[in-house]
Amino acid sequence: MARHSDYPIDDLFLNRWSPRAFSEKKVPTEIVYSILEAARFAPSASNFQPWRFVIAQTDEELATFAEFILPGNRLWTDHKVPVLILLLSDKYRPNGEPNPYHAFDAGAAWQNLALQAHKLGLATHAMGGFDKAKARELLQIPEQFEVLTLIALGYQGDKSDLPEQLQEREMPNDRRPLSESIVSFK
Ligand SMILES: Cc1cc2nc3c(=O)[nH]c(=O)nc-3n(C[C@H](O)[C@H](O)[C@H](O)COP(=O)(O)O)c2cc1C
Repeated sequence: MARHSDYPIDDLFLNRWSPRAFSEKKVPTEIVYSILEAARFAPSASNFQPWRFVIAQTDEELATFAEFILPGNRLWTDHKVPVLILLLSDKYRPNGEPNPYHAFDAGAAWQNLALQAHKLGLATHAMGGFDKAKARELLQIPEQFEVLTLIALGYQGDKSDLPEQLQEREMPNDRRPLSESIVSFK
């Protein structure tokens, strides 16, 4: 399905989507860092930059991450996705008080990352389908950080390599009309 916008927007927003078919091709470290660098420049409340990234790239690191990914996502991530990034956010301001915007700001970092990856010809796919407590335990993540999302990063692969049940979903999806998102409760 080709995406169309009702009002003109940059193609970047229409053409980024989240495939499940990834190529095993390795991603050079400089490219991974360029993509994270885009995330680094996301806006955040008081410029606290609450996002943190745990990166898995080696076979050993990817095998550890696979231990906390839920089976439905392992169908397409196992042995394929060359880079997995666990997105965390620091729940506290530097003065120790809670930062109510930590997850909001980390979401902005994820979007920067996804769009920069797309511009460099790579694909991303965010996942909530993983065991956050197990991720925390295996990666020894302190309580101060919220475990938010796991991000698959790599070059897009062949749809035909996916299990059959995922092949039919391997296309960009649509959005509800803008008018349904603009609300007034008066
Ligand atoms: C926080 C979050 C969690 C998600 N969890 C999963 C997941 O566990 N498995 C999966 O296949 N896709 C997951 N997705 C992908 C969404 O389904 C996808 O982004 C959405 O359908 C919009 O499609 P698009 O990214 O291709 O535009 C997740 C996306 C986000 C942002």
